[in-house]
Amino acid sequence: MRPTIAPFPAARPRRLRASEPLRALVRENGLSREDLIWPIFVRDGEGQLEEVTSMPGVMRRSVDLTVEAAAEAAELGIPAICIFPYTDPSLKTEGCEEAWNPDNLSNRAIRAIKQQVPGIAVMTDVALDPYNINGHDGFVQDGEILNDETIEALVKMTLAQAEAGADIIGPSDMMDGRIGAMRAALEDAGHRNVTIMSYAAKYASAFYGPFRDAVGASGALKGDKNTYQMDPANSDEAMRMIARDLSEGADMVMVKPGMPYLDICARVKTMFGTPTFAYQVSGEYAMIMAAAGNGWIDGEKAMFESLVAFKRAGCDGILTYFSPWVARLLKEG
Ligand code: PBG
Repeated sequence: MRPTIAPFPAARPRRLRASEPLRALVRENGLSREDLIWPIFVRDGEGQLEEVTSMPGVMRRSVDLTVEAAAEAAELGIPAICIFPYTDPSLKTEGCEEAWNPDNLSNRAIRAIKQQVPGIAVMTDVALDPYNINGHDGFVQDGEILNDETIEALVKMTLAQAEAGADIIGPSDMMDGRIGAMRAALEDAGHRNVTIMSYAAKYASAFYGPFRDAVGASGALKGDKNTYQMDPANSDEAMRMIARDLSEGADMVMVKPGMPYLDICARVKTMFGTPTFAYQVSGEYAMIMAAAGNGWIDGEKAMFESLVAFKRAGCDGILTYFSPWVARLLKEG
């Protein structure tokens, strides 16, 4: 589309910016509560609530309080939450067996939420890192991340999550061929309506730092994730990954991180016209909160600006730690 504009003074673009009603009338994009997915960190115990140091305002909650948070989210009109477990170091092994334990923390949380808050969709994370003694998303052998062996484990993990009642499976591991294997296993097991939101374009990013603290994986991680997560310099590769995951049976795709990758979001939405999501990750949240905490930026305004930018880029929704805060403000109008 080629924009047309009359010469000055026939056109004075400032006319449409002169008052809030006029600005509202011509506003092209808006953020709504229905655009939000709230990532929640779960820990063990009962009545336990602790703040993640590097993410002010973000908590780790025991399952009972996670159910309360889910109820609060439903009340606020947030359609989905995403569960991330803080796994006790004693449960981490080289074989990652805890990942597909039907009674692991994540599956217990899913079951409790689905029983007590049926009105909210529950999304999961599929990757071995919370359970891996090496902190990696896949099995490690002689310093290498094993692709095909990891897929078998991811499939078991997926089935355990679907069995617990998950609505959206979120593979964040970046192994090749996992979406097809998961989709086939879900079909075989009769989970025909369990959806997959693939972390299709997931970059090897410095912005995941606070998350790894939140789930207790930073101490464990040996080396980096550059042999499976994408190079931040690449864009065409992201289109191939999206095409590949859609062809294997992903229902929705995600770009991650968010703010530094809005060009990727826009390209994906334009090229594929598929449900497209962005993950505004832990480091993006921490950055805004740290600057706001120092009085260097207005945190609330920066939050809104960053979130509407995802909508402008074409995203259908955003995974963001700001979800309850922004949902409350949107609800109050
Ligand atoms: C694990 C996973 C990560 C995040 C979501 N799932 C971390 C990683 O890949 O190291 C990051 C989320 C965030 O930073 O908020 N596979």
